[in-house]
Amino acid sequence: MATDSENLRHRLDRATGHLDPPYAVVDLTAFDANSAALVGRAGGKPLRVASKSVRSRELIARTLARPGWHGVLAFTLPEAIWLVRREVTADALVAYPTVDRGALAELVADPALAAAITLMVDDPDQLDFCDTVRSPGHRPELRVCLDLDASWRLLGGRVHVGVRRSPVHSAQAAGRLAATVAARPGFRLVGLMSYEAQIAGIGDAPPGQTALGAAIRLAQRGSYRDLLARRGAAVAAVRDHADLEFVNGGGTGSVAATSADPAVTEVTAGSGLYGPTLFDGYRSWRPTPAAFFACAVVRRPAPGLATVLGGGWIASGSAANSRLPRPWLPAGLKLIGAEGAGEVQTPLAGSTAGTLRIGDRVWFRHAKSGELCERVNELHLVDGDEVVATVPTYRGEGRAFL
Ligand SMILES: Cc1ncc(COP(=O)(O)O)c(C=O)c1O
Repeated sequence: MATDSENLRHRLDRATGHLDPPYAVVDLTAFDANSAALVGRAGGKPLRVASKSVRSRELIARTLARPGWHGVLAFTLPEAIWLVRREVTADALVAYPTVDRGALAELVADPALAAAITLMVDDPDQLDFCDTVRSPGHRPELRVCLDLDASWRLLGGRVHVGVRRSPVHSAQAAGRLAATVAARPGFRLVGLMSYEAQIAGIGDAPPGQTALGAAIRLAQRGSYRDLLARRGAAVAAVRDHADLEFVNGGGTGSVAATSADPAVTEVTAGSGLYGPTLFDGYRSWRPTPAAFFACAVVRRPAPGLATVLGGGWIASGSAANSRLPRPWLPAGLKLIGAEGAGEVQTPLAGSTAGTLRIGDRVWFRHAKSGELCERVNELHLVDGDEVVATVPTYRGEGRAFL
């Protein structure tokens, strides 16, 4: 009897047999199931879609059309402006501070844009920067969101668990920055965001690494306890100065945990829609792999090896094997340590490599989510064993934001 992975391979091969690799597909059944599962895990709180992890207008719109999803977490201001102008959303929160003067000038020139887009701040200098583009009396109010750092600091800051983001870490610091924003003309503090990357973005059950998994779980539990107390206190301190419309937190790997925080009003998710390999190592929930790319076998250097054209679609982050794409179907393939995934060709070894013929397709999964879309102009949307639509990626629309 055919295994699930053989069935998937045959389904994807049948659906896309008319296409010439390399190309990328999204399996709509898996995508929609992931979307619904994320909503279920959010426990009634709205989900904001992380657009960097999707990078296709159509698929962002498809996500937002489902109950439980509301608004976009954008990754740059030009992107947010584009999405609002194209009516993908009327609520875009730009997740990272911006110093893009052209985009800021566009934002302040259009009251409708200014009403739909929220900027991220963690430093009064960012407010000053906005003022240099257009002074407060001569522009619509800018909506701003305060970024509360979610990392866990121990031993008086000597140990840092998490990423390096906002300088605003304590509830007191959050209250002070909120007071500063509230006192500044031309800005309205509408939200607080606090993204716990060390919980949401680190798998707590890395395959084959039991001890590391136990250590990660211990750190995540401690960090979650710290954040529950600190985020709650920070939100209270900020609410002394502003009527917050939302408190955003989390990501794919923490949807259930973050939504359980009473201080949080909405949770972000994006990667869980495509289900890239970095999300295979979680105990609580693993998205169904939904995004794949196909490369063609072009040569067989030795009986047990098959080489595909291309394949080196490597993910950002600290360089490690986990950032490499994984040959997924047929099962049993692996990269060769000496070459990895190559710029122009990728030799594959493993138990099934010898069965591959010239012209066969090998299906890969990317380590991260939206970055796949920087490699292709289109995504072929597969339903069952046919391509039901082909939609452009951001890149396919000529939009390379980062
Ligand atoms: C601010 C912020 N929120 C949420 C996320 C989570 O996104 P995803 O669900 O794609 O992991 C990220 C990812 O880096 C992020 O930077």
